[in-house]
Amino acid sequence: MTHIGILGTGLAVPKRVLTNAELETMVDTSDEWIVSRTGIKERRVAEEGTASSHFAYEAAVKALDGAGLNPEEIDLIICATVTPDMAFPATACLLQDRLGIGRIPAFDLSAGCSGFGYALTVAASMLRSGPYKKALVVGVDLLSRITDYEDRATCVLFGDGAGAAVLGSVPAGFGILASELGADGASGAALQMPAGGSLKPASLATVESREHYIKMQGSDVFKFAVRIMDEAARHVVRSAGLNLEEVDWIVPHQANVRIIKAAADRLGIPEEKFFVNVDRYGNTSAASIGLALDELASSGQLKHGDYVVLVGFGAGLTWSALLLRWWAGGSTSG
Ligand code: ACO
Repeated sequence: MTHIGILGTGLAVPKRVLTNAELETMVDTSDEWIVSRTGIKERRVAEEGTASSHFAYEAAVKALDGAGLNPEEIDLIICATVTPDMAFPATACLLQDRLGIGRIPAFDLSAGCSGFGYALTVAASMLRSGPYKKALVVGVDLLSRITDYEDRATCVLFGDGAGAAVLGSVPAGFGILASELGADGASGAALQMPAGGSLKPASLATVESREHYIKMQGSDVFKFAVRIMDEAARHVVRSAGLNLEEVDWIVPHQANVRIIKAAADRLGIPEEKFFVNVDRYGNTSAASIGLALDELASSGQLKHGDYVVLVGFGAGLTWSALLLRWWAGGSTSG
């Protein structure tokens, strides 16, 4: 069996920083409330005229560089996003064109904030079953484009960015050792953008009723997130034949530091093992785990041979968890 791991990672975020102080001038909120309830201090917001594919491209180029590969060595592109440049063509196809790669399959996948884990798992399955050898996975979202900056309950949470990973074969015992994907469609109404799809196509009425923005039942999502991060992380660790104590790093979806602390508590894993950057980027949806993984890896803290869990939850409601043994040996001939 072919063993699949991450050969390189990359991230991209807009330059524009939106601080809590600025949000205080936009809605009835305070830096104290935002920091104490979410841990978020600032987030990035994409400039007008930019789109998801721009940040996907920037992150992809860095991930390819990290893997020591040229774009033409990639056989497959998957973009996880809920904010594609447009409904179609897929952002993955726009990225393929921008990278100058011909003919290879390229498609988008929608699993909310769990998208990066979904895309890694789908790409790894396709690599294992062949004929593909190397895949580019990008989680990218510009949530600022669908955030209602008049709704204080959501606008303080979200930010923009992209995280990318190049996947390929690694020696046995390394790479993705276990993964779990799941969904609870019955709870989907807790997190949705009601208009703009086939149910409610864009119209003057849908714009006036602000239905092109994220609508969220925050406390329902909060409870789901804490429970599912605990369960999914446990499952992947157990199915790889490991104990929770053996895990070196957890890279959780960066939604809210209180969710991360509560999950750490339930799992009995020290908070220091959870990589956190939500304070600087807010919730970047499908980008969040890839972005955090790249920061962890490039900081030198994630060592060759470390066991790392990537665990996320999001719209759907969905969840994803992967257990990897980190391979820092770059691209192999496979
Ligand atoms: N500033 C000040 N007050 C606020 C703000 C704000 N920005 N937002 C809400 N409040 C108020 C509420 O109106 C409420 O006031 P009330 O008691 O007078 O009614 C009070 O603060 C408490 O509100 P809660 O919603 O109970 O606050 P909570 O502690 O639950 O925190 C939060 C809200 C941060 C949204 C939390 O529920 C959360 O993080 N949920 C998970 C959200 C999440 O992760 N979503 C992303 C999922 S992933 C994806 O796919 C995008």
